[in-house]
Amino acid sequence: MDEQARKKELAAKAAVDYVIENEYLGVGTGTTVSFFIAALQQSGKKVKACVSSSDATTRQLLAFGFPVVELNEIQGRIPVYVDGCDEIDANFNMIKGGGAALTGEKIVAQASDKFVCIADDTKLVKQLGAFALPLEVLPKAVEQIKKSMEGIRGVPKVRECITDYGNNIIDVSGLQIQDPLKLEEAINQLPGLVTCGIFAKRGADVLIVGSSDGIKITT
Ligand code: 5RP
Repeated sequence: MDEQARKKELAAKAAVDYVIENEYLGVGTGTTVSFFIAALQQSGKKVKACVSSSDATTRQLLAFGFPVVELNEIQGRIPVYVDGCDEIDANFNMIKGGGAALTGEKIVAQASDKFVCIADDTKLVKQLGAFALPLEVLPKAVEQIKKSMEGIRGVPKVRECITDYGNNIIDVSGLQIQDPLKLEEAINQLPGLVTCGIFAKRGADVLIVGSSDGIKITT
């Protein structure tokens, strides 16, 4: 295992303490989350059911023996959501979507009371934007949204993947994201935009960072 993976695993293991037994648990997507799912199984903690953010996570959860329910099947809110990020700033604004699961992640995060973000220390940034911002867009809107991104001096590139919902991903590099909430709200207005990879309106509540010195938890 490389150093970054070790740091991810450290953060992921620490997140198990936040899981409330016999309650619903929201589960994100990505390699850090995969470590979390394995650690949760090892802990022996039992949840009522998991609400998954993607098809990939659903497959992993089922393979590890966790029950999975659809968000539409549950009443009330999810107490805890655990997920990774691509970048996070000091105010817990994030860029997410490196794994193309941003839409499911935003929906489940929004339905959750506490967002526990697990990350290795390379994800910490002063200002969001060095990681190309993922946008999930309807196929019909790809060229229009690319033009809109060029209009704000972004450099859009269509990713070679189709999301769980049959849409495209545009990765936008070159953005200086000084006001994440403002940009998220502006991008949300574009016709054909499904999900913007800025998570500022619903940022994280707890950040667990794994580094070579161990873990650091910030709330
Ligand atoms: C997937 C995501 C992931 O949380 C993000 O890409 C981080 O992934 P990893 O844990 O593999 O570094 O937003 O859409």
